[in-house]
Amino acid sequence: MAKQGGPSPMDVDVAAALLPPSSRFTAQQKGKGKVGTVRPGVGEKGGPWVEKYRPTSLSDVAAHKDIVETIDRLTGENKLPHLLLYGPPGTGKTSTILAVARKLYGIQFQNMILELNASDDRGIDVVRQQVQDFASTQSICFGTRANVKLVILDEADAMTKDAQFSLRRIIEKYTRNTRFCLICNYVSKIIPALQSRCTRFRFAPLDAKNISNRLRYVIEQEGLDVTDTGLSAVVRLSNGDMRKALNILQSTQMSSPHVSEEAVYLCTGSPMPKDIEQIAYWLLNESFVTAYQTFVFTKKTLPIFDKGKGVSQMKTLKGLALVDIVRELHPFVFCISMPAVVRVPLINALADIEYRLAFGTSEKLQLGALLSAFTHARSSLVAAAK
Ligand SMILES: Nc1ncnc2c1ncn2[C@@H]1O[C@H](COP(=O)(O)OP(=O)(O)O)[C@@H](O)[C@H]1O
Ligand SMILES: [Mg+2]
Repeated sequence: MAKQGGPSPMDVDVAAALLPPSSRFTAQQKGKGKVGTVRPGVGEKGGPWVEKYRPTSLSDVAAHKDIVETIDRLTGENKLPHLLLYGPPGTGKTSTILAVARKLYGIQFQNMILELNASDDRGIDVVRQQVQDFASTQSICFGTRANVKLVILDEADAMTKDAQFSLRRIIEKYTRNTRFCLICNYVSKIIPALQSRCTRFRFAPLDAKNISNRLRYVIEQEGLDVTDTGLSAVVRLSNGDMRKALNILQSTQMSSPHVSEEAVYLCTGSPMPKDIEQIAYWLLNESFVTAYQTFVFTKKTLPIFDKGKGVSQMKTLKGLALVDIVRELHPFVFCISMPAVVRVPLINALADIEYRLAFGTSEKLQLGALLSAFTHARSSLVAAAK
C-alpha cells in the first residue's frame, strides 16, 4: 500500500477505510515503548471497544474541533511544532496524536514514531538512550509526506524531574528531524522549561452531546439494543470521559443485551436517581430509627425489599456503597428548598462523611453520621419555621 507520486492527505484514510475491518485494525496497531510492536486487544474479535473505536483519522475525533483543525493545518503545511496535549483521561489526547502520525506517515507510521508511556521505564538514562537512538538516525522512509520523526511521550507527568530536564536538551538538539509530543493529565507537573518549548493544547472533558453522538455511532455499528434513557445514563455516568462511556456501554451490553437505564446502573453499581430520591425522602421524613433500621437484621432476614425499611436495607439489598449515596445526595440537597442556615451545615456534614469514607472508615458508623446530619437539619428546619 506504499503510495507513489504525490499523495493527497486523504489517501491514507480512504485506503484504510476500504479495508475489511479486521485488517483495518491490524494496520492501526502501533508500538508502545518500541518502534513497531503490537498493541494488545486491537483487531481481536470481541476486543475492547475503546481500541476498536479509537478514531483513525482526525475527522473521527469527536469534539475539540478547534484543536483538531489547528493541528490538521499545521501537519498539512508540514509545520508541526512540538506539542503538549493535556487534559483529563479519555478525552482523545492519545488518539489525536496517533491520527496525526497516521496522516503524516501513512502506512509506515509505525517506523516513524517512538511511543514511550508511564509503563515503560523512563528514568533519565532510558530517555536519553532510547530517544537519542531513535532521534539521531535519519529517517529513510519513502512515500511519506513528512521527513520529521515523531516521539510521543504519553503520561509525561509521571516522568521524573531529572528525565524532564534531560529531555529539554534533547528536544533542542534533535529539532531538525524530530518532533516531540508530550501528553499528560496535569500540566503543572511538567517543568516550565519543557512547557515553553511546546505548543499547548487543552483537551476538556467531552460534552454530553458529543459523547452521545459517538455512542450512537458505536451502537449502530454493533447493532445494539439501547433505550434512550439507557444511553443518557451512560452519558451521565461517564462524566465527559469517552473511554469510560465506551467501557460502561460494553460491560452493560455483556451483562444484559437490552441496555436500559436500570441495566446500566446495575452494571456499574451506581445508585439509580429514583433510589436516591427515595433515600432522600426517608432521610427527610422518617424517624431516625425507621430510617436506619438495624443493619445486620435487614441484611440477614429480609430478602424482599420492604418499602419504608430504611436506608440501610436499600444499601444492603442493592449493594450500594455509602460513598456513592453521599455523592449523589450532594446535588440533591441543593435542589431542595431550605434556608441557608440549614443547608450549609448539611453540605459540610456530607463533605466530612465523604472524606472519612475515603479513608476506609466503618460504613455503619458513617451511615449513622449521615442520618444524624439529616436529623439535625430537620430540627433546624423546624426551629427556623417557628
Ligand atoms: N474525542 C474523542 N472522539 C472519539 N473517541 C474518543 C475521543 N476521546 C476518547 N475517545 C475514545 O476513548 C478511547 C481513549 O481515548 P484516548 O485518546 O486514549 O484518551 P486519552 O485522552 O486518555 O489519551 C479511545 O480509544 C476512543 O475510543
Ligand atoms: Mg492517553
